[in-house]
Amino acid sequence: MRGLCCDVADRGGPIENFFPDREVAADLLTRYYTDYEPESTFVAVSGGRLIGYINGCMDNRRYGLVMFWLLGPALLVKAFKHGLFFRCEIHQLLRSVLKNWRRIFVWRKKSFHSHQGHLHIGVAAGFRGQQVGRDLVDALVAHAARKGATELAASVHDANKAAGDFFQKLGFTALERYPMVLIRNSKEEHYHSLLYVKTI
Ligand SMILES: CC(C)(COP(=O)(O)OP(=O)(O)OC[C@H]1O[C@@H](n2cnc3c(N)ncnc32)[C@H](O)[C@@H]1OP(=O)(O)O)[C@@H](O)C(=O)NCCC(=O)NCCS
Repeated sequence: MRGLCCDVADRGGPIENFFPDREVAADLLTRYYTDYEPESTFVAVSGGRLIGYINGCMDNRRYGLVMFWLLGPALLVKAFKHGLFFRCEIHQLLRSVLKNWRRIFVWRKKSFHSHQGHLHIGVAAGFRGQQVGRDLVDALVAHAARKGATELAASVHDANKAAGDFFQKLGFTALERYPMVLIRNSKEEHYHSLLYVKTI
C-alpha cells in the first residue's frame, strides 16, 4: 500500500514528480492510517497483488494531533537522516507549505479543527474504470456509518478531473475551494484544492 500511495500521489502519477524520497513520502502519506487507525483502511487485491486502497480517518482533529505531536517530529528526524534538507526539491516544498499554511490550517472549515472524517484513495493504473474505486468507497462509507461518522471529505487538485468526476458520481459534493501554490522546478504552480464531501 505504501508503494501504491507513492505511485498515484501526483494526481495519479508518481510522488517523484515533486518529492525525492519514497520512504519518507510513504511515512507521511500512510503511517497515520496504518499505525493509528488501521480499522479504517480497506484494500482491493487481484491475483495476489494489491491494486487499490482507501485510507480513512474518522476524526480529523485526532489526525491533526497525531501528525503534529507524534508522526511529524519522527518524520523530521528521518528526513534529516536521509539528507533531505540538503535537497532543493525539499526547499521548494517547504516554501510551498509556508505559502499555503493559512489556507490549509486556518481557512479550511472542515480540516483539522473538526471531528469529521476524511479519506485518500488510489487504484493502480491498469485497474481503473472497473468499479474498484466505487467498491472501496462503499466499504469505507459502511464502516463510517457503523462508527457514527456523519461526513467524509476528500481533497482533490482541480486539474484532477477524473477524481472530481469519480467523487461526484459517488454522491460527493464540492463544498470548499482554496487557492494553493506548489513550487517545483523553481516555478510557482497555482491551482485550487477542492474539498469533496459526502454526508453519511
Ligand atoms: C479516482 C480513482 C480512485 C477512481 O477509481 P476507479 O476504480 O477508476 O473508479 P470506478 O471504476 O470505481 O468508477 C466509479 C464511477 O466513477 C466514474 N469515473 C471513474 N473514473 C472516471 C474518469 N476518469 N472520468 C469520468 N468518470 C470517472 C465512473 O464512470 C464510475 O461511474 P459508473 O459506475 O456510473 O460508471 C482512480 O482514477 C485513481 O486512483 N486515480 C489516481 C489517484 C487519485 O486521483 N485519487 C483521488 C484523490 S484522493
